[in-house]
Amino acid sequence: MNFIIAKDYEAMGRIAANIVAAQVLTKPDSVLGLATGSTPISLYRELVALYKRGEITFQNVKSFNLDEYVGLLPTDQNSYMYFMKYHLFDHINIKEGNYHCPKGTPKDLHEEAKNYERMIRDAGGIDLQVLGIGPNGHIGFNEPSMKFEKATHITDLDDKTIEANKRFFDKKEDVPKKAITMGIKTIMMAKSIVLLASGSSKAEIVKQAFLGEIMPNIPASVLQLHHNVTVIVDSEAGESIKMHV
Ligand code: F6R
Repeated sequence: MNFIIAKDYEAMGRIAANIVAAQVLTKPDSVLGLATGSTPISLYRELVALYKRGEITFQNVKSFNLDEYVGLLPTDQNSYMYFMKYHLFDHINIKEGNYHCPKGTPKDLHEEAKNYERMIRDAGGIDLQVLGIGPNGHIGFNEPSMKFEKATHITDLDDKTIEANKRFFDKKEDVPKKAITMGIKTIMMAKSIVLLASGSSKAEIVKQAFLGEIMPNIPASVLQLHHNVTVIVDSEAGESIKMHV
């Protein structure tokens, strides 16, 4: 694993954007795996800036987001599709039809999960996967568990996740209780991975996940087994690993 400690949140986003840009410049038809949440917003801001300066094009890029809340339509302001359009897709030249989030409202969610896996495979697999990390160590919505869930699946959200994400909703009861998410195998099949973490609330979990035991109770710990992972943290999230890297 490659660790980078950036001086702050914006620097973390800039470094990550350089990695994404290098991927897209060297392979213009790259398949990107994307994340939502507060963490990658500075990355997306920087990618939009690079695009607006004419330094990068998304003309032939495809993307697959990690997850979506069950029950939310793409037009819902709390859906992850809405988030991605708001922060990235509506400001760059990625083609409609080339970006994907799992759908949270089909009648048959299990069929949607299978279909999402198939679409990723048919696109040639993910070249570069962007990840955040939950306060409980989740990646995507792979919550702490007794086993690693392999493929895209429907999951119950952990109470810690609902608690952490309630800030985006009017009240805690409004946070969906289920999500559809890429599985651990889906994520591990990506050719390269960039995981971002920012803020002091992530310091302890970053240490446990990347310097501790590999176990499904801390899903992100499985990334220690991937051959091409870069972990970029800001100085606060890096506080408890800085002595070890
Ligand atoms: C988002 C996702 C989640 C988040 C994680 C951290 O698509 O899959 O795993 O990356 O919950 O969220 P933030 O960045 O809001 O702390």
